[in-house]
Amino acid sequence: MDELIIEGRRIGYGCSRSNFDASQTTLLFIHGSGGDREDWRFQLDGLTAPGAVMAIELPGHGKSDPPGEQSISGYARWVELFVTNLGLKRVVLMGCSLGSAITQWMALHPQSWLVAAGLIGSGARLRVLPSLLDGLINEPSKALQSLASHCLSSSCADSLRRSIEEKYGNSDPMIIHGDLSACDQFDVMDTVHRVSVPTLIVVGQEDQLTPVKYSRFLAEKIERSNLVIIPGAGHLVMLERPNEFNEATQKFLNSL
Ligand code: COA
Repeated sequence: MDELIIEGRRIGYGCSRSNFDASQTTLLFIHGSGGDREDWRFQLDGLTAPGAVMAIELPGHGKSDPPGEQSISGYARWVELFVTNLGLKRVVLMGCSLGSAITQWMALHPQSWLVAAGLIGSGARLRVLPSLLDGLINEPSKALQSLASHCLSSSCADSLRRSIEEKYGNSDPMIIHGDLSACDQFDVMDTVHRVSVPTLIVVGQEDQLTPVKYSRFLAEKIERSNLVIIPGAGHLVMLERPNEFNEATQKFLNSL
């Protein structure tokens, strides 16, 4: 199992290679609210990058020690610590949902290692239904089931639906509350046009949590961007349509 100790906390991650060259381009994925490295299983197996393909687990998620954070900048600090601890010199950072807000934050506070960005199931503002935030405190199992059902398209395979329901059902509602509170406060509608790195924007056509409209807005504002809309997929497009997602991502990587 891959893990690092950063500031005394265990940070888990998935990596496509046992040995990798940190000076070469690494593709680093960041999961969404309540996610973990498993959300990127088809990408860790199916994509190739000159360095490696990696998936960080944010504090409080997967094998990473709690607590989680309550802000996008708080989580961004851990991503930066992760990259510098591994000595990664060139990173293509791609995040889904919460992870996409962290990616936007990073692209708006660029580091020397950031060469490109990917925004998946994203938006420059990520307001969250107040009833969902309240529900995570007052009726957590119902709120977690509702979140799971909104992550997927109507045509999602039963096995994937069951595994996502089980995963959210076993999650700590307060970690997800922190994640969604961080999303709820996130708003870069007025500044996202300053993102200057090449940016791939991917959204499932049936995304209910971050509708296609949000990705179109990003594509209009970010000059060096490319928008890919994938039919038959919801918010977790990389799990629902891995072949189409990987094709778009590999093409983007190869073009850099
Ligand atoms: N990009 C582009 N447009 C956006 C946007 C974004 N990121 N976020 C909101 N907008 C648009 C809305 O579509 C709306 O446009 P309209 O007036 O033409 O219909 C307008 O900006 C105002 O939207 P918003 O600030 O979100 O307020 P709201 O009162 O319309 O909606 C919620 C608030 C919480 C009800 C709504 O955001 C929602 O339904 N969220 C649920 C989805 C969710 O919880 N997602 C989790 C994200 S991690």
